[in-house]
Amino acid sequence: MSPLPAPASLPDDLARHLRRLRPDAAIIILTGAGISRESGLHTFRDADGIWAQVRLEDVATPGAFARDPDKVQGFYNARRQALLDPAVQPNPAHHALARLEREWQGPVLLVTQNVDDLHDRAGSTDLIAMHGELMKARCTECGGLHPWTGDLSDTDTCPACGRVGYLRPHIVWFGEMPLFMDRIGDALEAMEPNDLFISIGTSGNVYPAAGFVAEARAAGAVTVEVNLEATDGAHLFHSGLYGPASQTVPALVDALLAIR
Ligand code: APR
Repeated sequence: MSPLPAPASLPDDLARHLRRLRPDAAIIILTGAGISRESGLHTFRDADGIWAQVRLEDVATPGAFARDPDKVQGFYNARRQALLDPAVQPNPAHHALARLEREWQGPVLLVTQNVDDLHDRAGSTDLIAMHGELMKARCTECGGLHPWTGDLSDTDTCPACGRVGYLRPHIVWFGEMPLFMDRIGDALEAMEPNDLFISIGTSGNVYPAAGFVAEARAAGAVTVEVNLEATDGAHLFHSGLYGPASQTVPALVDALLAIR
């Protein structure tokens, strides 16, 4: 069967690239803070972003935690509470990606740099949280991982080993190795020509995630950037789709699911 043309609402060059895809192509999606912006969560590097309000060196490194654990815990406690605000819900972009995973004939792997749980809540299941998860605490003594909805402090007890004062946010800080890199590397390496790599709502400033597009492209995959605006790395992608994620991502998913 020949593929249907992608809907006219997509830019011509993007529609042209999507026509190369088989209906069962492997898809790898990388998301960043921009996909959760319309759910009410801040990005990092936009003008109103988190790193404009606080220095990352003060709250997001192992050194910062060693120097001032209360400050670091306080920063993540506030972000955890913000995520629990009932107004913060998955938006149409998160839901569209969950729908893509359910309805696409091939494998769909979602890799997120976000530590919020909005992909999870939207129903994505083949999901890798490479920078950790805000709603979990990790014991630095026994390695135990625990669901955590309240505040964390140095008086908390690890539910696994019973030691007091060793729980930290389950967050990958600058200078630490992102999680599940082997699985992500294997998936990128297994990409074949005319598979698809999509990067959504990330500025492409932080490695190793920022390097995934080059790996996907080296494997022959079609690469698409989806963002509010073209990033500095836009030239690394075959094509781009620009606008608010709550509109662009459902449009892209509709176009993909129309491929037969
Ligand atoms: N729709 C689509 N994209 C958006 C939207 C939106 N509504 N709003 C903002 N964006 C885009 C911005 O244009 C920007 O390119 O989202 C991107 C957010 O970039 P960053 O703030 O740098 O976030 P991210 O790329 O996820 O950061 C990577 O840096 O600080 C660390 O560990 C943190 O995981 C994070 C990593």
